[in-house]
Amino acid sequence: MSIIKDDTIKLLNDQLNKELFSASFYFNMSSWCDKHGLKGCGKFLYGHYREELEHFEKFKDFINKVGGQASISEMKAPPSNFKSVQDLFETVAKHEEYVTSCINEIVGFAFENKDYITLRFLDWFIQEQLEEQELFN
Ligand SMILES: [Fe+2]
Repeated sequence: MSIIKDDTIKLLNDQLNKELFSASFYFNMSSWCDKHGLKGCGKFLYGHYREELEHFEKFKDFINKVGGQASISEMKAPPSNFKSVQDLFETVAKHEEYVTSCINEIVGFAFENKDYITLRFLDWFIQEQLEEQELFN
């Protein structure tokens, strides 16, 4: 028996997979930059890869703590080719905008269900997404 609704756990698990996708995406972008002699960008994006892994682990810890089961599902490969560094940063800005919308969806669901445990957990991510979007815009 889990502490929060199964439907919420399902949404959190979907988000966990999106965080892992984000990590892989940053990993690919970082390598693309390295390959194209953009070492500074490569290092910057690699740092973001590590941050996304932390996000992924935060979801895992929370899901398992409330009695769910964190699980990784099949993932499509993230892009690994970009037209230019401009194209790369436009792609990542769009991706972060999408991630923010996904977090907002779960917040909305938790709010409707008066699920304050999940809302409190997601609070950190709302702030984090604001910082990410500010940075990439
Ligand atoms: Fe993230």
